[in-house]
Parts: sequence; C-alpha cells; structure tokens
Amino acid sequence: MLALTVLGGAYLGPHHAAIPVTQRDPAAERAVMHAYGCASCHTIPGVPGARAAVGPPLTHLARRSVLAGLLANNPHNLERWIENPHAILAATDMPDMGVTPTDACNIAAYLYTLH
Ligand code: HEC
Repeated sequence: MLALTVLGGAYLGPHHAAIPVTQRDPAAERAVMHAYGCASCHTIPGVPGARAAVGPPLTHLARRSVLAGLLANNPHNLERWIENPHAILAATDMPDMGVTPTDACNIAAYLYTLH
C-alpha cells in the first residue's frame, strides 16, 4: 500500500505485464470507464459526467485501506472487484459488467492516480 501510494501513476499490476509509465494513457483509461458505464453509478474525478451517487465516490481511491467494506485495497483485489464483484460479495449492488482483465488493469491504474 505504501509503495503504491508513493508510486502513484507508476502502478505495476501484479498478474499482468508491467505498464511502463510512459505508455500509460489516462485519457484511454477514463474512456474505458465511460464505456463500461461506471460513471452511471460512481463519482470519479477526471471522468466527464461521472457525478453519480449510486455507489460510493471513487475519489481518493488510492488512499483507501479497504474496498467495498471488506477487501484489502491492493491492485490484485481492485482488479478482481472490477472484473467480477459478485464473486467477492454476492449481495453487492454493483453489477458484473464483463470487464476484461486488460481493461480492469487499466481502470485500476487510473483509479490509483486518485490520491
Ligand atoms: C449499477 C451501479 C454500479 C455500476 C455500473 C458500477 N458500480 Fe462500482 N459499486 C457500486 C456499488 C453499489 C458499490 C458498493 C459495493 C458494496 O459495498 O456493495 C460499488 C463499489 C465499487 C468500488 C469499491 C469502492 C469503495 O469505496 O470501496 C469500486 C472500486 C468500484 N465500484 C468500481 C467500479 C468500476 C470501475 C465500475 C465500471 C467498470 C463500476 N464500479 C460500476 C455500484 C456500481
């Protein structure tokens, strides 16, 4: 966690190929979130129109210690959550949205820029 907080945008996924900082494209990551409709439920700084309050705001996500009230906040868990929240918390209102592992990795990378 500490290392993540310090590295911020230099996030390297644990089970995906490392994404060199220079090749990261925050605009593309925001577009991915928009395409999956995350903005219809969440307030997400930097994502146009993402001001909804159905789910918790994703503001300061990089600083949280816990995700969804039960998961340690680390890249592996965040990607798992984004890909398939019901596998982790059967009763959650967040839908499984068919996010691919690559897109989940990009989304997580963006969310970890939110300090
Ligand atoms: C239909 C509404 C809805 C959509 C669409 C949705 N979420 Fe969620 N999300 C929620 C709800 C509700 C929670 C709270 C989970 C819980 O505690 O049950 C949540 C929780 C989360 C969390 C944990 C936040 C925290 O504070 O612990 C993250 C991260 C997250 N969502 C990311 C996403 C991403 C990325 C997308 C798009 C791929 C997305 N969500 C799409 C409703 C939604």
